[in-house]
Amino acid sequence: MRHLMSPLDFSVDELDRLLDLANDIEKYPNKYAHACEGKKLATCFYEPSTRTRLSFEAAMLNLGGSVLGFASADSSSASKGESVSDTIRVISCYADICAMRHPKEGAPLVASQKSRIPVINAGDGGHQHPTQTLADLLTIRSLKGRLDNMTIGLCGDLKFGRTVHSLISALIRYPGIKFVLISPEELRIPSYIREDVLRANNIPFTEVERLEDAIPQLDVLYMTRVQKERFFNEEDYVRLKDFYILTKAKMELAPEDMIVLHPLPRVNEISVEVDDDPRAVYFKQAQYAVYVRMALILTLLEIKVE
Ligand code: CP
Repeated sequence: MRHLMSPLDFSVDELDRLLDLANDIEKYPNKYAHACEGKKLATCFYEPSTRTRLSFEAAMLNLGGSVLGFASADSSSASKGESVSDTIRVISCYADICAMRHPKEGAPLVASQKSRIPVINAGDGGHQHPTQTLADLLTIRSLKGRLDNMTIGLCGDLKFGRTVHSLISALIRYPGIKFVLISPEELRIPSYIREDVLRANNIPFTEVERLEDAIPQLDVLYMTRVQKERFFNEEDYVRLKDFYILTKAKMELAPEDMIVLHPLPRVNEISVEVDDDPRAVYFKQAQYAVYVRMALILTLLEIKVE
């Protein structure tokens, strides 16, 4: 039985096969409409979510399966003090696979160690968000035609943004990847990513503060929200929240074939006027997330569709 805690749980070959499957699902959705009949997905979300929870649920429904779960810790017995270890033991009696989001880093990993069903990390604190990375990789590969030989700009809250941490870990395995890390001093990438992931693997990267300076050299610009819920101090959040706003004027500095991704939700960091730019692909990215989560469910449940 396999779980998914980090994008590194899949080899590059396995990732390629998963993305191929997601592309096939996009092309021939009817072929997969009954693949999970009789199977149940539990969505255990101890933290708010729109896309991840609902796209997982849409994915399982599209596969002919069914869904149960809870959308907040308050509506589960966690509010009475139940541990994630006990909760997953119980969920293992009710469902065939579980997607779990939790504010504590490592909580889905703890759950996976007691689980009798595959557990998927749907975001753990400021740590990892591997299924967002699968959606990001599928979006980039589908729209740019490759995952190698690119300059990727990551902009915003690189300290707390778990999607950024997972995406860097996944992309360093492809040749010719360079990163431009665009953030204010206080929201720089954590040192364990800078040292243990980037420097340890000799991955070229620069750290800059001005988006305008970086944007002309990028193939992909990955914007992120300042993660209000991870700040200890409201004043710091208010000071940093509008540090970056991607506008039409800034998009004029970008290459014609650059694409803009954002895991969403967006607050102010991309002006709505950018939404009509064909390079703005963040809503397509949310659609790709359904295909890739369908592919992930099939893979972890070891269901093959001929
Ligand atoms: N991208 C993402 O994780 O969005 P939600 O928080 O809405 O699930």
